[in-house]
Amino acid sequence: MYFVLCLILFINSARAGFFDFTEVDDPLSSLWQNEKLEKKLSECRVLTKSGIKYGSCVPYSSCMLSGGSSNGFCGLLQTCCIYENTCGKTTDAKVAYFEASDLTNGVTNCNYVIKLRNPNICQIRLDFVKFNLAPATLVLPQYATDKVYKCNNDRMRILPNFYNIPDLCGNNDKQHVYIHVNQSDGVTKGVQLELTLSDRNYNPTLFAPSWKIKITQLQCPGEDTRKQLIKPDYSKDIIEDYPLLAPLGAIQYFTEKSGYFKSFGFDGSVTNQISYTYEQSYAIGFKREINVCGIKFTPEYFSLPYENPTGFYSDRNCKHYLYVPELYFDNPLSTSNSLVAKVCLNEPEVFRSYAPGPLYVHFIAKMTNFTTEEDKKQGFNIKYELLNKCP
Ligand SMILES: *[C@@H]1O[C@H](CO)[C@@H](O)[C@H](O)[C@H]1NC(C)=O
Ligand SMILES: *[C@@H]1O[C@H](CO)[C@@H](O)[C@H](O)[C@H]1NC(C)=O
Repeated sequence: MYFVLCLILFINSARAGFFDFTEVDDPLSSLWQNEKLEKKLSECRVLTKSGIKYGSCVPYSSCMLSGGSSNGFCGLLQTCCIYENTCGKTTDAKVAYFEASDLTNGVTNCNYVIKLRNPNICQIRLDFVKFNLAPATLVLPQYATDKVYKCNNDRMRILPNFYNIPDLCGNNDKQHVYIHVNQSDGVTKGVQLELTLSDRNYNPTLFAPSWKIKITQLQCPGEDTRKQLIKPDYSKDIIEDYPLLAPLGAIQYFTEKSGYFKSFGFDGSVTNQISYTYEQSYAIGFKREINVCGIKFTPEYFSLPYENPTGFYSDRNCKHYLYVPELYFDNPLSTSNSLVAKVCLNEPEVFRSYAPGPLYVHFIAKMTNFTTEEDKKQGFNIKYELLNKCP
């Protein structure tokens, strides 16, 4: 009896001293199978040597099995479980975070599984809050004579992959990607994010990789939408997700009136020898409200390989290019001339697209049989503005 009293007193003092219980949605709730338990989960806070860390109150065994570290008491039988990274985790939460930093040197793999939370999930949006892997490097492919850029050290790969999401590496801070899934094939139940990392013990010159990826599962209206609309949780998602859905085929989709889009791995702070990976081919969509008549593109950086450096950039000279339908350059005397659809210029000239229909551009970097200029930064970083007035 005395012992129990002491224990209760201890827990109370622990609450006051170290733990702060707040009834918020638990970001890790999806990890725990038991629904009743899930509801009771709460966030907790622990003061550690390196500052305040946030975790979840879970039973000791769950914490150990899921690779967390337990910190003190959290209620009678639970512990405040802290995750330094989310390697090896599975989630079916509407919004989840896949993240890692301070990985130990020997870690060479980190996978994350997104379990589709209901049969109507048709797209997953990944927002790279932070994404820093070693950049693509020049390599000599086995059956080609020219060098190509590849994610040779670190690499993130997405499975299944429709519409050509390239291997991702380098700096992709603030970029995003849409993963399209089709559950009516009866096989797809989830998506895997696969990270392969270079062993820093053998490559000590590489900086430590780190990333924080926000994962949002998006619903398409499905077969039993009418039934689902009765359930408040579902109807809210269906209505809120709809404007975020990307057009089929686009792996990036911009819904704001203006913003920036850039090639994967583009790092503004690096001046040379950096590139997107070769053998890419993907589409970028822009949301077209009904009063929009075109897009203005203002390149901040634009340099893609071309064949004829003597002045005239016609679409035939581009080795890699951005394809822009109904393309016009602002400067009528531009050496790039008007009415070419493939752009690879390395002058930061303003151009526009007055295309009817869905607004998109696509990036093609397929050709590999040319010599790469090894000291040149390759890629693009372009400001776009949707236009309400067109000629
Ligand atoms: C999904 O797959 C089903 C069955 O294979 C097919 O009928 C349907 O058109 C597909 N939907 C999309 C959007 O690709
Ligand atoms: C390079 O490849 C393209 C098509 O992939 C081909 O049309 C072209 O002739 C090739 N050029 C050289 C120099 O081999």
